[in-house]
Amino acid sequence: MTRENDRYMIRSGRARDAVELAGLHASVQLQTVTGGQPHPGIAAWVEDLLDGHPSVTPDDFLVAEDSTTGQPVASLVGLRQDWSLAGVRLPVAQVELVGTAPEHRGNRLTERLFAALHQRYAADGVPVQVIEGIPYFYRRLGYDYALANDGAATVPAATPSATGQDWSGGSSGGLTVCPATVSDADDLADIDRRLADGSALFCPRDAEMWRYEIAGRRPVDIARRVVAVLVHGADVRGYLVHGARLSAAGELIVVAAACKRPSDWPQAAAAMHAHLNHVGRQYEASAEGPFAAVRPILDPNHPLARLGPPGVMRRPRGWYVRTGSPIDLLARLLPLLRHRWHAADLRWHEPTLTIDTYGRAARLEFTDGELTAVKAVRGAVSPASDPETHAAIPPSALLQLTLGHRTLPEVLDTWPDCLLRDRPTEHFLTTAFPHVPVRVWPHN
Ligand SMILES: CC(C)(COP(=O)(O)OP(=O)(O)OC[C@H]1O[C@@H](n2cnc3c(N)ncnc32)[C@H](O)[C@@H]1OP(=O)(O)O)[C@@H](O)C(=O)NCCC(=O)NCCS
Repeated sequence: MTRENDRYMIRSGRARDAVELAGLHASVQLQTVTGGQPHPGIAAWVEDLLDGHPSVTPDDFLVAEDSTTGQPVASLVGLRQDWSLAGVRLPVAQVELVGTAPEHRGNRLTERLFAALHQRYAADGVPVQVIEGIPYFYRRLGYDYALANDGAATVPAATPSATGQDWSGGSSGGLTVCPATVSDADDLADIDRRLADGSALFCPRDAEMWRYEIAGRRPVDIARRVVAVLVHGADVRGYLVHGARLSAAGELIVVAAACKRPSDWPQAAAAMHAHLNHVGRQYEASAEGPFAAVRPILDPNHPLARLGPPGVMRRPRGWYVRTGSPIDLLARLLPLLRHRWHAADLRWHEPTLTIDTYGRAARLEFTDGELTAVKAVRGAVSPASDPETHAAIPPSALLQLTLGHRTLPEVLDTWPDCLLRDRPTEHFLTTAFPHVPVRVWPHN
């Protein structure tokens, strides 16, 4: 992973890098927050990732080492995890902790680290990489905004809502919210297993990961969250995950909220908001500064937002996403596509349906109208006029369709080079790619 006569060697991380990587990232990340001082929460997070995290190994880090000193001078980490896209397992790597020591910037080390990372995931069959971060920067590395993130209203810390409902405390219909303990981990994992079979894009946790979230991290780890459980008597009916402290703006962030039974949501939302207000006041009382608002980092349609008190609307943000091959990604969704067409009572009338991505093409094969295979084949020279091609869809548009970020009508509005042969193709592809809600709290 290095070039000849090169000052820098790109290599995998090692457990013994922990001190240097913690020091490097603590001194380059979130420096506007610390005023140029090392960030203890970042250092603790790096230490956690390199020691005891259930799904991360030192090898998940990539490091640029200065060969003259042997010191790591730039690095990033890819956090591998399995998401569920409407019930289909989707291996994802969330890229975090991208940083270069100031005196080594200008050498394109981030570009080189990402090239090594993408090569690794192509070999290991991790089809999707996601990252949040500097606006536009990661577009230069092959990423595109293809997942919605955030957008739920921020709820001011005032207690009774305008509708007269009291969100300030107590239980609701027998449902209460209380701090989780590690003994809740199996129930929480069970809830996630059920939600992973739902229609959203979801990031489930197993019991080990839940134990880690509840009690495994160093106290100052910036990625540490507080887990609460929604209970009805002894029955764990859901969960609520929020910040371990107030933000600089006095906001209590919420990163996840779930109910085992959708019918619990109206009462669960009331109980959860009451709990969040209570926690916000507690944080305020422990001299963290004034509690200003509850800030759900959830989609505006999330039941906690929809059924909670009114608030101040926010513009949704986006996650950057990259895939090495949108056709491989499409092939993974074969059972989902088959299911969607089946549920809509649609049968394809030809043996194949070809989607060309201006280079490679996906050949969808059908038996008796049912999808049986998705194969990557060479694309046509001119897909727009090729009689064998049913649809020509640019790779970035196909990525957005497969993840359910944009529907076909939206893609047709935005990409003039998205071309469809006829009405049946349009009807099939519209049914194949509905909008998918994003309910992801990534592993980090
Ligand atoms: C972002 C960072 C990792 C880039 O470092 P690097 O890999 O050494 O990048 P280089 O200095 O070689 O710059 C490569 C290109 O990216 C651009 N770039 C660098 N930092 C940038 C930033 N913060 N925002 C936008 N563009 C940036 C450079 O201008 C350069 O552009 P050019 O090709 O037009 O000349 C580094 O500035 C850093 O560690 N910043 C602090 C931590 C941080 O913000 N991490 C990202 C969190 S999402």
